[in-house]
Amino acid sequence: MASIAPKESTMLYKAPFLSECDAMPEQTKHWITKGDKVLMPTYARFPLVLTQGDGATVADVDGNTYLDFVSGVAVNALGHCDPLLVNAVQDQAETLLHVSNLYYNLPQIQLAQALVEHSFADKVFFCNSGAESVEAAIKLARIYAHENMAGNQFEIITAEQSFHGRTLTALSATGQTKYQQGFEPLVPGFKHVPFNDIQAIETAVGPQTAAVMLEPIQGEGGVRVPSPGYLAAVRKLCDKHGLLLIFDEVQTGMGRTGHLFAYQDEGIEPDILTLAKGLGGGLPIGALLAKDKVALSFKPGTHASTFGGNPLVCRAGMAVLDRITQASFLKQVRERGADLWARFSDLRDKTGVITDLRGRGLMIAMDLAIPAIPVIETAMRRGVLLNRTSEKTLRLIPPLTIQAEEINRMYSILSAILVEQFNAKT
Ligand SMILES: Cc1ncc(COP(=O)(O)O)c(C=O)c1O
Repeated sequence: MASIAPKESTMLYKAPFLSECDAMPEQTKHWITKGDKVLMPTYARFPLVLTQGDGATVADVDGNTYLDFVSGVAVNALGHCDPLLVNAVQDQAETLLHVSNLYYNLPQIQLAQALVEHSFADKVFFCNSGAESVEAAIKLARIYAHENMAGNQFEIITAEQSFHGRTLTALSATGQTKYQQGFEPLVPGFKHVPFNDIQAIETAVGPQTAAVMLEPIQGEGGVRVPSPGYLAAVRKLCDKHGLLLIFDEVQTGMGRTGHLFAYQDEGIEPDILTLAKGLGGGLPIGALLAKDKVALSFKPGTHASTFGGNPLVCRAGMAVLDRITQASFLKQVRERGADLWARFSDLRDKTGVITDLRGRGLMIAMDLAIPAIPVIETAMRRGVLLNRTSEKTLRLIPPLTIQAEEINRMYSILSAILVEQFNAKT
């Protein structure tokens, strides 16, 4: 597609949900009305129908354009329609789309090899989403415990405020009751402890414990960064008790924090790691990584996925991994993250609107003294897409290729909105 020139959005709407929107642009209204007739109402979507993307800019069906600081919830690592990613996918689509796992395919082997080369792991299992990679991690931990631990160990300790996905088992591992209500009974075998509290894990370890599973930085929980040394202490505790350490890097992995994987900044390694989101750069792929000691507990027939590791998504994964592992890529992620951090910490220090700022790399959240939804709505009207993790917490997760000029543009819009809405309230 041709490059999209940024322009001020002309969208006029009152609230982010259709029932309250009576002044949507014509095409937007037309498609949302059609969509709501046939799509299950699982999402409280913003009234935006997106049709095109280019770098960090997306366009809607009425021709408005937006700077995208959500990137499909930390998925579009290379931005929208990156030419090399598009070429790789086009080429693969013309070559071989799918063959199942009854046979080998080249992109699957090549992506697994690259992931192994760049991580602690010896083996990879491919699936299609973050929740599936967590599901696979839990199954692997259980079957490993079954074979290698002395008693009937199956329990996994996870953290409060964690998020591990929406399948019933990933949901049961998740430490947030708001996602679980109505779906009980949950899958047994999970104990939730406060995050960033090593003593809480020590206390929770019992005769049935097999593993500890943590996000190195909690994403959906509000970008909670643990204290320095916490993850290393968890590693030590797992070694002391003979437990597996699982890192859920579905959100933090693939360069998001300024390192290929967040654990690489901690001087330790997990036994099992989950990946998804940024790995496919927009195509649905998940991966489970593990050391041989653990991975070899999966035998033929113990776990499988029809689509897992198909040639198309693995070719996309190769294009993304190739780029992220190029010399200056992660340095630039850290630099752009530092730009964002400097600007918003200045705003925090000069005004009362930001009560807390957290994050690493291009994964930054801020707690606000005002509700986040009106900020997001106004930003959307002015041409910036933002995301929140709770009522008063905004999260910035732009493409990893975001430019300094785009950060400037977003900052001047967002800081003005924050100050306006804070002043109006106080
Ligand atoms: C840490 C973490 N794990 C798992 C998931 C679930 O991923 P998916 O939505 O691809 O199933 C998410 C999604 O936000 C996540 O952030």
